[in-house]
Amino acid sequence: MHAAIRLLVLPALLMGSFAAPIVHAHGDVTPQAVDVSTLKPLGEQKYDENPYRGDKEAIRIGTSAYNQNCARCHGLEAISGGIAPDLRKLDIDKETDIYFLQSVLRGKVRNGAVYMPPFQGIMSQEAIWAIRSYLDTRHEEEEAPVNPMEALAKKATCLSCHAVDTRGVGPAYREVAKKYAKDKNAEAKLLAKVKKGGAGSWGKVPMPPMAAVPEEDLKSLIKWIVAGAQ
Ligand code: HEC
Ligand code: HEC
Repeated sequence: MHAAIRLLVLPALLMGSFAAPIVHAHGDVTPQAVDVSTLKPLGEQKYDENPYRGDKEAIRIGTSAYNQNCARCHGLEAISGGIAPDLRKLDIDKETDIYFLQSVLRGKVRNGAVYMPPFQGIMSQEAIWAIRSYLDTRHEEEEAPVNPMEALAKKATCLSCHAVDTRGVGPAYREVAKKYAKDKNAEAKLLAKVKKGGAGSWGKVPMPPMAAVPEEDLKSLIKWIVAGAQ
């Protein structure tokens, strides 16, 4: 038996078995088979650093695996269309390797809503590291936000889902400012919403509760957003 041939066939069943609601902002998610038979098999033990970094064959496989499984949310050629974080900005180091593997295996499930499906049991470790090898070739340095409020929003993880003037998983902050321009209670209302999370103002995709962010930070972020996110 050639255990090295690890075709990923997704039983339709599996998709139906998520206990949590899948956020349908990004269309249906049907993971595609990734043939990793030409890569060095890694076995069961999880690596904490990309064992294929720079490997041409891994990059080739990673390119197609990325296009089939990740591009619909993270953008073609990893150029983010705004609905999911730009993966070109991930640092190339061991710490980020671990974060990458965990993010893909566990997905991004916040407060019961699935923003990114878990690939555990669906995608082999080989396929995940091959994708990471491909993304290394697309790497671009992230410019640190010069605006101190934007930097605070980044620190508070708001920018995984929001941007100042483009729509992501959540609305652009300038759209929010426009919507509440005439509402005197906007700050109080939005502070409560951001703490508790919830959906319905912009669509069906919920914002998770952001109560882990210090209240002072939330207050200044909301003030900044309502004032037009300048
Ligand atoms: C259904 C859409 C969707 C698909 C498909 C998807 N992702 Fe994601 N991914 C997201 C969203 C949305 C986030 C940010 C969510 C959050 O932070 O809660 C994210 C976050 C991530 C992160 C963390 C990024 C950061 O800056 O913190 C990584 C790494 C990642 N995805 C890799 C992948 C890879 C690799 C694939 C393909 C195997 C993939 N994703 C498929 C939507 C998706
Ligand atoms: C995992 C994704 C995600 C993260 C992280 C996130 N948001 Fe949101 N946010 C959303 C979504 C989705 C909506 C739209 C909710 C709706 O339709 O009611 C939203 C809506 C909002 C709104 C408008 C609410 C309304 O009712 O009009 C504000 C203000 C906001 N977010 C601020 C923040 C701030 C500040 C942070 C960081 C502390 C943050 N968000 C983090 C996804 C996110």
